[in-house]
Amino acid sequence: MCGIIGYLGERSAAPIIMDSLKRLEYRGYDSAGVAIFDQDAGDLSVVKSASKVDTLVERLTEEMPAGRVGMGHTRWATHGRPTLINAHPHSDCTNKVVVIHNGIIENFAELRRELQAKRHVFVSETDTEVVPHLIEENFKGDLVTAVRESLRRLRGAYAMVIFSQHDPDLLIGARLNAPLVVGVGEKEWFIASDITAVIPYTKKVLLLGEGEMVAISSLGPQVSSMDGASVKPKIIDVKWDISQAQKGGYPHFMAKEINESADAVSNALRGRLADDGEVTLEEFGFTDRQLLKVRDIKMVAAGTSFYAALLGKYIIEDLARIPVEVEPASEFRYRQPIIDQDTLVVGISQSGETADTLAAIREARRLKAKVVSVTNVVGSSMALESDGVVYLHSGPEIGVASSKTFIAHITCLYLLGIRLAAVRHRLDPTRLKQLTAELKALPAAVQKVLDRAEVLQKLARKYAGYRNFMYIGRGINYPIALEGALKLKEISYLHAEGYAAGELKHGPIALLDKNFPVFAIATQGATLEKMVSNIQEVIARDAPVAALVTDGDHVLDEVAADRVEVPAVSEFLSPIPNVVALQLFAYFVACERGCNVDQPRNLAKSVTVE
Ligand code: F6R
Repeated sequence: MCGIIGYLGERSAAPIIMDSLKRLEYRGYDSAGVAIFDQDAGDLSVVKSASKVDTLVERLTEEMPAGRVGMGHTRWATHGRPTLINAHPHSDCTNKVVVIHNGIIENFAELRRELQAKRHVFVSETDTEVVPHLIEENFKGDLVTAVRESLRRLRGAYAMVIFSQHDPDLLIGARLNAPLVVGVGEKEWFIASDITAVIPYTKKVLLLGEGEMVAISSLGPQVSSMDGASVKPKIIDVKWDISQAQKGGYPHFMAKEINESADAVSNALRGRLADDGEVTLEEFGFTDRQLLKVRDIKMVAAGTSFYAALLGKYIIEDLARIPVEVEPASEFRYRQPIIDQDTLVVGISQSGETADTLAAIREARRLKAKVVSVTNVVGSSMALESDGVVYLHSGPEIGVASSKTFIAHITCLYLLGIRLAAVRHRLDPTRLKQLTAELKALPAAVQKVLDRAEVLQKLARKYAGYRNFMYIGRGINYPIALEGALKLKEISYLHAEGYAAGELKHGPIALLDKNFPVFAIATQGATLEKMVSNIQEVIARDAPVAALVTDGDHVLDEVAADRVEVPAVSEFLSPIPNVVALQLFAYFVACERGCNVDQPRNLAKSVTVE
């Protein structure tokens, strides 16, 4: 959702805030704004733009506000259209208090009415604007107390940065149900929605807990709870590198991130899979005894991560023979799921902050289930609130559409499957040995797909003019058909559907004609012959067909289809090379159509609202 950054230190705040906003823009890009306070002149400058961060940067470059404390915001609109008036920061009636916010204040209408009755004047349609007015109302000489009292009135979700000219040596941050971290530098501090904003400046990050607030002065950060009790700060060292958050010569972050897929597999496997197949997951935290008690597994996730979870069902049921149910997190939470202390709930999330998934794992814990999160972001809310974590170790993913982290999620699910199988002695040693060798060889297979990007680019040129697409797969490649379709629709705005190939004849085949191409996953596997029949059925309806086939496989030679060869791997591991090919196809189609690949319309990377 929205990206927020605050700075207090000895350097000029504006360039740091602008630079950080560029790195946070993937969280939202409807409008942007900054507030910088010049301590020497006693001047507060607020500059906003009704469009992207670039426009704001242009405006600021002409006249850079001086000051060593400030904040910046890039918005993903919830309450109020993306206009200048609704852009953050928002102020109180006196323009002394400024606030930036990510989240939703659910009781804002009631608070707004109450404040209006006390003659506060509102200028925007946002929920956020109640906060500076509440602080104005509650200020009796001590800013921290006024902020705390105001925050206690809010319901919903927030991560905020607050500044007031009443106490210009302070910068305040607070969070509830939305992420916020504090970067701790040399005599300078950063408050940000996520780590990518602060990694060029510091690797030391203070993790704010739920319902905590931080007041930063030149003496450093003071963390407290909403009732005023002091809290011992949790500080971690972040291993991510700044080069990982840059495009590194690629035209888009997504291109770079797809090209990091082979590394994503290696990084997820590193140090975790011994040659004899033993799996060690550092922060997983479950003993063999606890794992033996697991009777069933529920997986919860959203979007691309939901499709990774669907794959998790195929993987874990096959390896460990434990029943797995997969459910969109947004549904799970509201339907009284049947779980207890013998259920393992697995939350799948790149960001570890997706509101639906976070709420689902909280519900699971409330119902006494054990929870493990598979996530990329160290110290994310899901990581902190789970009994165990499996980190992806993919480095930052900036492209809004997930690519390399989907690959890393699947890799981690293979590891989780092996770990769960081992404790139940479910894996035959010969299969384990073979699977281990295949997993270790997987990065090379992925690299081969990446090396053939040109083939997919050519195919994309041929198909970019169609308006509708159907993706079909069978077995473990069915979730890959779903993900291939999602990737295409979100970055190229073309209609695409994913189907289990065998389901086509039960309805969707009615859609097909010469203008409705089908992308078939027809790599080697137990149901390949059936897939070939399905492709024939499609061709008989005049629909153009593109198909992924295994290197050297002649199965579609006699069929009028565009073939893309992918390296031979076992069917069980084939989802990974296959999805890399589909990601490249979607990427090239989006480029052909001139779409903004890294920042697709209406989307945001981290969805921290329900
Ligand atoms: C699709 C995409 C989204 C996310 C979803 C969940 O490319 O990126 O569908 O997968 O919003 O996000 P995480 O994984 O952060 O929970």
